Amino acid sequence: MGKYPLDASPILSVKDVSNAYISRRYGAFGKKEEKKVLNHVSLEIARGELFGLVGESGCGKTTLGKCILGLIDYEGEITIDGLKSGGMRAARYQRSSLRRTRAVKVQAVFQNPAGALNPVMRVGWLLEEPLRVHAIGTKAEREKQVDEMLDLVGLDLSYKKRKPRELSSGQKQRVSIGCALMLRPKLIIADEPVSALDVSVGAQILNLLRDLNRKLGLSLLFISHNLSLVYYLCDKIAVMRKGEILEQGTAEDIYSNPQNAYTRELLKAVPGLPVGTPDTPLRDYRAL
Ligand SMILES: Nc1ncnc2c1ncn2[C@@H]1O[C@H](COP(=O)(O)OP(=O)(O)O)[C@@H](O)[C@H]1O
Ligand SMILES: [Mg+2]
Repeated sequence: MGKYPLDASPILSVKDVSNAYISRRYGAFGKKEEKKVLNHVSLEIARGELFGLVGESGCGKTTLGKCILGLIDYEGEITIDGLKSGGMRAARYQRSSLRRTRAVKVQAVFQNPAGALNPVMRVGWLLEEPLRVHAIGTKAEREKQVDEMLDLVGLDLSYKKRKPRELSSGQKQRVSIGCALMLRPKLIIADEPVSALDVSVGAQILNLLRDLNRKLGLSLLFISHNLSLVYYLCDKIAVMRKGEILEQGTAEDIYSNPQNAYTRELLKAVPGLPVGTPDTPLRDYRAL
């Protein structure tokens, strides 16, 4: 069987999405200030694809992630696995069943795993929570799924009894990836998932994400300010600046033939980027 499922429709389609934050600098009666962040962003992620979104800090990457997760309001259209959704305004009127459907299709992993995990609960409980909330399975079935998930994210069963503070930051990130996967979403949005980790631990987490992509056919929107990480992990890359997508293409294209001056600057600025020529295979894991 091939790596990609037969369904050719994209897992995620973002069309012409714009957004602005409205704030009042001088209290509730102050003048409204509008800050435009996203400017007609469009991108598509195919099923089973590792898609990287890269750009400098503050360019709007997290904002786009929040739009996809339905957490903030936007203009434009976002379709996740065939499920169309408007912004928050639309979401507010949606039946909760629709929101639940979205939760089953897309989940997120964030930079700071310590903040994402309830510190007083044990890992087993944390992993089981999404299943309990969605009333999936019996207690025994849920426990079995928790055991399987621990194995999938590379932790042994003894970790079930631990609390987040008894884990290293890499292990915490494994648990939060596990929590995100419990409902078996087809798409994961990973927003700077390794930026808070040491380089070597971060590399292990990237490898885990790649394994999950291989094993589960999971699609990934990997968000990072670091082009070398994106290049290491992803099949496709979109470069964002000031809320606009400057260019997108396969990782090889972006690396060997960047069209935009800003992309060339980003490439130059990365000291650790493996240097190669088109005929030296840089990322031989692709051949696996
Ligand atoms: N809740 C908010 N209210 C107002 N402005 C915000 C809010 N969240 C983010 N911003 C602004 O939007 C811009 C994009 O932020 P963000 O999407 O977090 O960037 P990135 O993730 O690329 O670093 C930044 O200039 C930031 O200051
Ligand atoms: Mg961000």
